[in-house]
Amino acid sequence: MRAITPDNNRSVQLTDVPDIEARLDQAVVAIEAFAPNRGETFLLDSPAANWRPGKDVAGTVVEAALDGSGPDVGTRVVAHLPQAGWAERALLPQHGWAALPPGIATTTAAALPLAGLTALRLLRLAGPVVGRSLLITGASGGVGHYLTEMATSAGADVTAITRTHDRGARLRELGARTMSDLALLEATQARFDVAFESIGGDTLSRVRHLTSRFGRLIWFGQAGREPMRLDFFDWVDGDVGAPIEQFHYAPPSRTRDTDGSDLQALVTLVNSGRLHPEVDRIEPWTMTGEVIDALRDRRIRGKAVLTLT
Ligand SMILES: NC(=O)c1ccc[n+]([C@@H]2O[C@H](COP(=O)([O-])OP(=O)(O)OC[C@H]3O[C@@H](n4cnc5c(N)ncnc54)[C@H](OP(=O)(O)O)[C@@H]3O)[C@@H](O)[C@H]2O)c1
Repeated sequence: MRAITPDNNRSVQLTDVPDIEARLDQAVVAIEAFAPNRGETFLLDSPAANWRPGKDVAGTVVEAALDGSGPDVGTRVVAHLPQAGWAERALLPQHGWAALPPGIATTTAAALPLAGLTALRLLRLAGPVVGRSLLITGASGGVGHYLTEMATSAGADVTAITRTHDRGARLRELGARTMSDLALLEATQARFDVAFESIGGDTLSRVRHLTSRFGRLIWFGQAGREPMRLDFFDWVDGDVGAPIEQFHYAPPSRTRDTDGSDLQALVTLVNSGRLHPEVDRIEPWTMTGEVIDALRDRRIRGKAVLTLT
C-alpha cells in the first residue's frame, strides 16, 4: 500500500510500504482524509526509526475485527491513532475511534481528534468557566479554535491572541475578543481568571503576569520551540500571578480508553451544530509536504486536511 513517510529532510514522501496485518481484535480502515498537527511537524525534524506520521484520520472500515469487537465493515469512523495514519489503510485503535453520522464529512471529521480532544480536556481541567475571563495564546491554530468555541459556548469571556487581525476573524465570530499583541494587555490592569499558554519562550512569564493570583495558568505547549524563560526576581515583589500547571492531553500514566468516548462527544457536538471545525485548507495527499510547510510557517488558520480520494 502507499503511505506518507518521513524523507529525513524534515519533510515527507509518498512511498510504498508493506501492507498492514490486523490482529484478531483489530479492524482495518480505508483512510479518506487525515489532518497533520504541529506536534507531528516537530517529530519530523528528527524522525524515530520505524515511525510514520498520522494520528488523526477519518475513513471507512474495510475489515472488521475477527473477534467481533469494534465496528462492522462499511462503518464510517473518525480515529485518533498512535501513529501511521497517513496511509491508504490503518489499524483502528480499540478505544480511539467514534462512528460518524452521515451529516459529517470525513474532511471535517479528520480535523477533530488531537486538537479537539486537547481543547475538550483543557476546558474540563479549567473547571466551570461561565462568567470567567479566559486568555488563550496561539489561538489561531487547531486547538485555539476548538477551545474558543467551547469556552464561549460555556459562558466564558474569551480574549484570544493571534498574530494578525485576520487570523482572529473566525474567533471573533465565535464570540471572542482578539488581540494581535500581548503588550496591549500588559499596558492595562487586566488579570485573567484562567490562561491557556502554548507558545513558550518568554510568553509564559508574560502571561503569568496577566493572571490573577487566585486564577489558573495552564501551560500546554511550546509552539515557538523555545523553552520557557522565568526570572526569579520577577516574582519576588508585587502581584504574583497564578501557579503554572502543565497539561498533556494523554499523559503516559493514563490509559487512552477515554479517547473513544471523548471523540464521540466531539462528534455529537459537531453533529448538533455546537462545534464547527475550522478547516482552512483541503488538499490532495500528494501535497502533504507543502501543507506541512504552511503549518510550520503559521499560514494555516485552524486545521488543514489532506484527502486520499
Ligand atoms: N499538551 C498537549 O497535550 C498538546 C496537545 C496538542 C497540541 N499541543 C501544543 O499546543 C500548541 C497548539 O497546537 P495546535 O495543534 O493548535 O497548533 P497550530 O494549529 O500550529 O497553532 C499554533 C498557533 O500558535 C501560534 N504561534 C505563535 N507563536 C508561534 C511560533 N513562534 N511558532 C509557531 N506558532 C506560533 C500560531 O498562530 P499565529 O501565527 O496567529 O500567532 C499558530 O496558529 C502547539 O504548541 C502544540 O504542540 C499540546
